[in-house]
Amino acid sequence: MILRRFSWVILVLAVSSLAFAAEADLAKTRVPMERLKEIKALKNPFKPSSENIAKGKELYQTKATCYTCHGKEGRGDGLAAPGLDPSPRNFTNAGFHAMRTDGELFWVIKKGIPGTAMMPMVGSVISEEEAWLVLLYERSLGMRK
Ligand code: HEC
Repeated sequence: MILRRFSWVILVLAVSSLAFAAEADLAKTRVPMERLKEIKALKNPFKPSSENIAKGKELYQTKATCYTCHGKEGRGDGLAAPGLDPSPRNFTNAGFHAMRTDGELFWVIKKGIPGTAMMPMVGSVISEEEAWLVLLYERSLGMRK
């Protein structure tokens, strides 16, 4: 009886860990340390106007495919998210945005994060300009509430 209950717990844990793998180490930058200074200093050439944010949103939710993992509203809950470990980042977390410069996030969109489902997107899927616009939308998600 105890054994059966125990296997239930294991099963529930296994299923829930599949569905909700944790976001990995929020505090740690995802860019190469030896280039951190230079990457942090990169500046978004576009202003966060409502027009540019809308352009970024349109890209994010269509051509750029970000929504498939990060979710339509950026909560890290896209269709492909269950089973991904680490989990896709939740962009509605203001704390996360405070920990990264635009340059660091742009770098990740461009080069990806080795060893994770976050692939290099610039070149294959979107242009550099489009990556900066998508980033404006991502940032806007962290400012709501
Ligand atoms: C196939 C799934 C997938 C797609 C598509 C995807 N991402 Fe990600 N992304 C991830 C995962 C998984 C992580 C978390 C990796 C980690 O924690 O190291 C991540 C992390 C990030 C981060 C956080 C980097 C940091 O410093 O913590 C940003 C920014 C990001 N993605 C932007 C984007 C944008 C913009 C797009 C679309 C152009 C996109 N992603 C498309 C899976 C995806």
